[in-house]
Amino acid sequence: MVTKSKLVMLNARLVTMTNDDKGYVCSDPTTLIIEHGKIVKIGAELPDSDGYQLHDCKGKLVTPGLLDCHTHLIYAGCRANEFEMRLNGVPYEEIARQGGGIISTVNATRQASEQQLIELALPRLDGLLRSGVTTVEVKSGYGLTIEDELKMLRAAKALEQHRKVRIETTLLAAHAVPPEYKGRADDYIDLVCNQIIPLCAKEQLADCVDVFCEGIGFNLEQTERVFVAAQKHGLQVKGHTEQLSNLGGSELTAQYNGLSVDHIEYLDESGVRALASSGTIATLLPGAFYFLRETQKPPIELLRQHNVPMAIATDLNPGTSPFADLTMMMNMSCTLFGLTPEEALRGVTCHSAQALGLGNSRGKIAKGYDADLAIWNLSHPAQLSYQVGVSHLSARIVQGELCHV
Ligand code: NIG
Ligand code: FE
Repeated sequence: MVTKSKLVMLNARLVTMTNDDKGYVCSDPTTLIIEHGKIVKIGAELPDSDGYQLHDCKGKLVTPGLLDCHTHLIYAGCRANEFEMRLNGVPYEEIARQGGGIISTVNATRQASEQQLIELALPRLDGLLRSGVTTVEVKSGYGLTIEDELKMLRAAKALEQHRKVRIETTLLAAHAVPPEYKGRADDYIDLVCNQIIPLCAKEQLADCVDVFCEGIGFNLEQTERVFVAAQKHGLQVKGHTEQLSNLGGSELTAQYNGLSVDHIEYLDESGVRALASSGTIATLLPGAFYFLRETQKPPIELLRQHNVPMAIATDLNPGTSPFADLTMMMNMSCTLFGLTPEEALRGVTCHSAQALGLGNSRGKIAKGYDADLAIWNLSHPAQLSYQVGVSHLSARIVQGELCHV
C-alpha cells in the first residue's frame, strides 16, 4: 500500500548545500528516499517499491526547500500612501515620528480579528510558497499589547493549518513604542519583559524574541533588558540592528549569542568581529534596502573576510518591503549587494536555517535532515538568482509530503 509517509524521488539532480567550501555540489540524476518526513538515503538502489510513493524528477534540480528567516507576514492595512509620501520627499523616520509607519499598521492590526489576519496573510504566504519556500519565520510586532501580540502569533501558527508550510514564530513586541506609552518607552519595556515574554513562553507561542534597536525603536539598554528577560524564559534572541544608524545593537546581540542580526547596513568592523566570535548569522534584507532607496550597503566584504555566514530574507512587511518572493531577494542580493548566486543560494538555505537555529535539521539535503525540498524546472542553480517573474518551481516537499505549489 502506498502511504504518504514514504516517498522515493527518482532522477533528482541534488544541490545538497553540504559542502562548506566554495562551489555547488550538483549530483547526477539520483534517488532520494524519504521516510516519515526525514531523508533516510541518498543515491541508494530503488528499494522494493511496495509501500512507497514514487516521484520521477526527470533530471530536475532539487534544492533544500527555501527558508525565509525574517518576515512580518501577519498584518492588516496598507501603506502605499507612505510609499507615495516618501517619493514626495518625506523620510521614513519622519513618517514614523508623525505617527505613521509601524504605528499605522499597529492601528489596523489591532482592529483585525485573528481570522481576518489569517485571511489577509494567505495570499502573501502563497507568493512565498511559489518561490520555493518551505519554512517561514513570522514576527509579531504590530499588536504591542499583550492580547494583540498573542493574537498575531496565534494567527501565524494557524497558517500551518491552511497551507503545507512550517512556521517559526518570533515575538517582536519591542518593535515600536505604542501610542498609549508615548514618552514612556521604559514602562512599555517593563510590560514586554514582565508580562508579554513570560506569557508567550508559557503558552509556547514564540520560538525567539526580536528587538528593533534603533533611534526610532529601542536603545541599547532597553534592548538588553528584553534579551535578559527572553533568556530567563528560555527563548533565544535576535535583533533588527544597524538598519538606519550604528547603535551597536549587533554587538549586543552577539554578546547574548543571538541567532542573527538583521538589516545591518550600518554595521562596522568591530560589529562584524563580534558576530564572527559568537557565531551569529548576518541576515541581509535587500528588499527593505531597495524599497527605502537606501544607499548605505551592508559590509559584505568584511562579512566574507571574517567568515560570517550571510542569510537572505524577504522582510515581507507593509512599510519597507512588501515583497512576497524569496528568489527575487536572491536576485537583489546579487545585483544590489554583489553576492554571488552561490552565496545567495546559501543565504536562503543552509544559512537561513542557521539563522533560525535549525542548522542541524533543515537547509541541506543530507541523511537525517528534514525532507523539506524544492524541485525546479531549471538546469543550473545560478538560474535561481537570475530571473524574476517566472515561477520555475515544479513542486515542493514539506515534511516528506509532495505538494504541487
Ligand atoms: O524590518 N525595521 C523595522 N521593522 C520593519 C519595518 C516595519 C514597518 O515599517 O512596518 C523592517 O524593516
Ligand atoms: Fe523586519
